[in-house]
Amino acid sequence: MLRIAIAGLAVFVSSVAWGQSPIERGSYLVDAVMVCDGCHTPRGPAGFIMEKRFSGGSQTWDEPAYTVKGSNITPDRDTGIGAWSEADLKRLLVEGVRPSGVSVAPQMPYAFYKIMTPRDLDALVAYIRSVPPEERSSDAGLQGSDARDPHSRRGETVRRGGDA
Ligand code: HEC
Repeated sequence: MLRIAIAGLAVFVSSVAWGQSPIERGSYLVDAVMVCDGCHTPRGPAGFIMEKRFSGGSQTWDEPAYTVKGSNITPDRDTGIGAWSEADLKRLLVEGVRPSGVSVAPQMPYAFYKIMTPRDLDALVAYIRSVPPEERSSDAGLQGSDARDPHSRRGETVRRGGDA
């Protein structure tokens, strides 16, 4: 998955002038290049369940220190990121830090998103915020939450061994 992210970055770094609206540009970045679906959209037998797009991924990373799944990144206020500001979302995307100050697991490839131009970042954020709110998918599994972080969502990071 990271390899796809890296290959994708080369594409958007080299795309210069774009006669598109920010939402169109964001759609191109998200749909064709940055593959957020891979980790944030649930999968069924026939592939991604697009009517529940971005409501939480089906894949689980089971690490020694934590278990994590891709979060609900729709504007749903209870199980998604509907309460986040644009600035909150940008910070998460390039620094991996939630509004509460708690970092996300590195499976979220924020380190690769640092090189985005401010304009592309604006377009990406506009697009992500334009998708319909969707409750967290039951397909994504509910795994508990990181109790230290009021912004963490069920189904995301479950830390093991205290502050590991
Ligand atoms: C390789 C898998 C992967 C890709 C690709 C990916 N993410 Fe993530 N993302 C994750 C995981 C896993 C988490 C949960 C991390 C945690 O809870 O510690 C996450 C967390 C997030 C969060 C924080 C949500 C919250 O409530 O804390 C946002 C926002 C987000 N991702 C947006 C995006 C966007 C937008 C894209 C595409 C540009 C993207 N992600 C691509 C794996 C990925």
